Amino acid sequence: MTLDDFPCLLPQAAVGGHRVRVVHALRPAQLPHLADLAGGRAVAFATDMGFGAKYGEVLLLPGDQGVESALLGLGDGRDDGGCDPFVFGALPPRLPAGAWRVQAPADVGAGDIVLGFCLGAYRMPAFGRARSSDSDAPRLVVTEQAVASAEVAACICQGRDLINTPPNLMGPMDLADAARLTLSAQGADVKVITGEELRRDYPTVAHVGMGSDRPPCVVVAQWRGSGADVNAPLLSLAGKGVCFDTGGYDIKPASSMLRMKKDMGGAALMLSLARLVMLRDLPLRLELRLGCVENSVSGHAMRPSDVIVTRSGQTVEVGNTDAEGRLVLCDLLSAACDSGPDLLIDAATLTGAARVALGPDLPALFCNDDAVAVHLLAAGDMCADPMWRLPLWNGYREWLRSPVADMNNISSRPMAGAVTAALFLQNFVKTGVRWAHIDTYGWNDSARHGRPEGGENLCLRATYEGILKIFDFGGRKGD
Ligand code: BES
Ligand code: MN
Ligand code: ZN
Repeated sequence: MTLDDFPCLLPQAAVGGHRVRVVHALRPAQLPHLADLAGGRAVAFATDMGFGAKYGEVLLLPGDQGVESALLGLGDGRDDGGCDPFVFGALPPRLPAGAWRVQAPADVGAGDIVLGFCLGAYRMPAFGRARSSDSDAPRLVVTEQAVASAEVAACICQGRDLINTPPNLMGPMDLADAARLTLSAQGADVKVITGEELRRDYPTVAHVGMGSDRPPCVVVAQWRGSGADVNAPLLSLAGKGVCFDTGGYDIKPASSMLRMKKDMGGAALMLSLARLVMLRDLPLRLELRLGCVENSVSGHAMRPSDVIVTRSGQTVEVGNTDAEGRLVLCDLLSAACDSGPDLLIDAATLTGAARVALGPDLPALFCNDDAVAVHLLAAGDMCADPMWRLPLWNGYREWLRSPVADMNNISSRPMAGAVTAALFLQNFVKTGVRWAHIDTYGWNDSARHGRPEGGENLCLRATYEGILKIFDFGGRKGD
């Protein structure tokens, strides 16, 4: 990608003779020095307007030619050295059109300004409506190095787009096509498995998809970095791509179903992560599997009490057709383990219970390896993209017992639903494979700076930075 791919950014080299206005970003402690930062007139105006440099507070400063400059409050900031790019997302909705530069304290990373600005400039796809042009939007003047952070934003925003697209326009094959396009553009080898081959190799995905007229498929992609040989570490990613989850025969109530276009949020996250790994040309081998499927009600849909023979040979009783995500993932995990990955990560909007436990902003992390978990959590903390670990508590494993199959897809007890779902998945992860499972919400319930309401690609940066640490690829590569 180049800077030309980002309409909200303006390369320094293209500024020419145009006026570039300044946003002074500051913390409350710097308010006494406002005159040095923004001039004496700014002080009087800011005082009159009650500007307190509160987090995300934007104040436009008037001059002879309209708005002359602006102030952005950073709040008190974090005291642990971690960053917060989102605050710069407050700018695009507030600044008038034109070219802008951000003047921030020295400890603010230039990349975080670019990232936050791009995330705040996000707009939903038009879905066939005519859309107003971008010409009234402000642009951030940046140097060439900004492209690295802009690429991260592009990966996040692609995930948002995929989640936000209405489900009539984003069926299993649409999701697979989008993935194929993205992956092959980076030089990955991509296969889309359907029909008889799907029933043979991914029988649980085929079973979940039986009820829909839009047939299921599995995207399988392989890629190798230019610095990776055949012995390079293998990273394997798997994502739940349920394009719409009605619940099947165990149908969801209307209020829960309404949001279920986002049930492919795990696939969106793993696709974006794969894209970022490839963009950065990490020296590893990569495999990606996305289970693209719709969970529908019809005369040929799966039934409660069905028994499925999974790819691994283990049998599963369908206790509830609404627990379809773990069915989609289990065969992906088995297939991933066949290649003997050095690290296996899956992501899914798997349980309402994870949201009950941790709320919408904290994806639940389950991990069978403490060192891997520590790296992922630390990375998330540092880049303001946190996850929270929940246990793979063996004591609850027996809650998945079934009298007719090796396991049931639902727990016998209405507790710890995110844990029992993760335990279900663990049955399909080969012993010795380091595995991280992310149960994410994939959605912003309310708009905040840099985080518009709607689909969200939570923990993309956390997982990417975590991978760098786990494989010891050094600092924030490319940032
Ligand atoms: N996609 C849902 C989980 C979900 C619900 C994620 C709401 C985010 C927000 C999943 O397929 C599901 O329906 N899970 C059930 C499992 C239950 C039947 C054991 C759930 O969590 O209620
Ligand atoms: Mn469901
Ligand atoms: Zn689901």
